[in-house]
Amino acid sequence: MATFSRHDGVLYCEEVSLEAIAATHGTPTYLYSRSAIETAFLDYRSALSDMPHLICYAVKANSNLAILNVLAQLGAGFDVVSIGELERVVAAGGDPGKVVFSGVGKTPAEMQRALDLEIKCFNIESEAELLSLAALASASGRVAPISIRVNPNVDAGTHPYISTGLRENKFGVDVALARQLYQMADEHAALNPVGVDCHIGSQIEEVAPFVQSLECLLDLIHDLRTLGIRLHHIDLGGGLGVHYQAETPPSIHDYAAVLKARLKDQDLELVLEPGRSIVAEAGALITEVLYLKPTLDKHFAIVDAAMNDLLRPALYSAWQDIQPVRLRDGESRVWDVVGPICETSDFLGKDRAMVLSPGDLLSIMGAGAYGFGMASNYNTRPRVAEVMVQGEATHLIGQRESLSDLWQREVIPTGDES
Ligand code: LLP
Repeated sequence: MATFSRHDGVLYCEEVSLEAIAATHGTPTYLYSRSAIETAFLDYRSALSDMPHLICYAVKANSNLAILNVLAQLGAGFDVVSIGELERVVAAGGDPGKVVFSGVGKTPAEMQRALDLEIKCFNIESEAELLSLAALASASGRVAPISIRVNPNVDAGTHPYISTGLRENKFGVDVALARQLYQMADEHAALNPVGVDCHIGSQIEEVAPFVQSLECLLDLIHDLRTLGIRLHHIDLGGGLGVHYQAETPPSIHDYAAVLKARLKDQDLELVLEPGRSIVAEAGALITEVLYLKPTLDKHFAIVDAAMNDLLRPALYSAWQDIQPVRLRDGESRVWDVVGPICETSDFLGKDRAMVLSPGDLLSIMGAGAYGFGMASNYNTRPRVAEVMVQGEATHLIGQRESLSDLWQREVIPTGDES
């Protein structure tokens, strides 16, 4: 069954109307289909079922505890990039033994906690970081499992802000340095080189850049074997694109089939770190039209959600579909859907043809990934509610912040403090 469908002109997620969700939880509200998340994860799993693999969901895409818990129950691993994400995984019932820790700036405190939790692997991004981890591991009598993140200098063909596999990007190290770092790690008693990884970008719509990086990593693995260093896993990161507008990314099955064909007989576990392709299409953001403001140049539909709730359009000029929750008859007009924030970049969609009236509900589609997770309190706007839909049931999985939540951590100095 489709995740989102219409009945009598009204938009439903699974078996719940978005009108009912708005009536119960108010607007703006994020909603996520539990079964869509499960299906995407299980698609990866079934596509790779005949080879050793671990799907490490990239927590940054959507880090709500309930979502992490759904995935943990299915046996997922997790890709984290901060101690906060690691603690979330633990709080959600995830297994630290299935966690890979990515990111260019892990602090000693973060690495120590990850060592204590005995995570699966540290994805190392520089020589300095490797030395820092080695010192921590030695001092605490531990052996740190490591992978070196290789920058394969591959063009992922995606937005420059989310492209990570080119030499000019801050991520990973070149193959020659990776080779040296593996030799260093191999000789260090507190380091255990177990894998190799890369992540070349996000919202990738072709298989070719993934294959190019895979070849680069395999060459290195074979090279290291001749030096007596044997790696157990190959981690190709995340990045598989989803359908927002006219994109035609490969399906999870097509992508996996290509990787499997190349990796058979290699005696390697395949690790993937998908984020967007697990949660994006499972989610939507419901917002209410506050005012219609036709001007000489443009027609603006001013809604109660804004760039602080969903940053992707403002930050990457991202296009996400906007659907009226209830279709109405009348004359369609072309609207810019904008929020109340005092910035011209505060738009959710431009030039959308719809029949609208004040009070109508709109649903911004594809909002399950990098939506709530990138939300802020800009303009002192509370972060919105999050709801998980499961069949006919809805569960509140994230409370709307109250205004007092927003300044609870702030202090007006009295002048009496020393
Ligand atoms: N692994 C690493 C090391 C990453 O940096 C990322 C995403 C992923 C996995 C997951 O990639 P995915 O499967 O979700 O493409 N905020 C941007 C996307 C930033 C992605 C950053 N890294 C957006 O809204 O488009």
